[in-house]
Amino acid sequence: MTAKLAVLISGNGSNLQALIDATAAGILPAQIAVVVSNRRGAYGLERARRAQVPACYHPLKPYRDAGRSRAEYDADLAALVMEYAPDWIVLAGWMHILSDSFLRCFPGRVVNLHPALPGQFPGAHAIDDALAAFGRGEIGQTGVMVHLVPDERVDEGPPLATETVPIHRGDTHGTLAARIHTVEHRLLVDTLRKLITNNCQPQLATGH
Ligand code: GAR
Repeated sequence: MTAKLAVLISGNGSNLQALIDATAAGILPAQIAVVVSNRRGAYGLERARRAQVPACYHPLKPYRDAGRSRAEYDADLAALVMEYAPDWIVLAGWMHILSDSFLRCFPGRVVNLHPALPGQFPGAHAIDDALAAFGRGEIGQTGVMVHLVPDERVDEGPPLATETVPIHRGDTHGTLAARIHTVEHRLLVDTLRKLITNNCQPQLATGH
């Protein structure tokens, strides 16, 4: 079984690269049908072009400038993605909250990757937030989760997979981010492989 993926990105796209590599190597039984970025300069767009994967840039600003709503932006994003008939929508560093006008088009089929454990550090600064909490002595580790996106909550939803990542004394954003990304690249591929082969259910407990 080969699944079609739509991968939404906003930046570097190292997780997209992990998906590209895993599909090319036959580790992930999937085809990346389209990559969409909301940022023109996202390096992930270049990664997609090099892999000869269709890539689109879908910016919010023209909508804002024209006084059009976020719901309209999301509805057009959904229409764009739907043209590629994906089985799964993968948010791999997509730094926009998706509203219901997108999510209702893909019920149970939107998967988000986030560099924190369930219930911890939602938003765009999870790694820095974890480092700060470590500095205050509140946590000794952070983690990574892959979860379903059922609604508009930020970085919340039924976890599909979680993995802890230790924080070391003297860690900087760079050292911790590198450790987290190594885990993310493996966990995202592994979780999608299980989803595609029907071997993955949302976790009832958080598992960390
Ligand atoms: C990843 O660490 C991902 O977990 C995070 O953005 C990064 C993208 O890296 N996502 C979030 O923070 C979502 N709230 P990449 O562009 O190198 O794949």
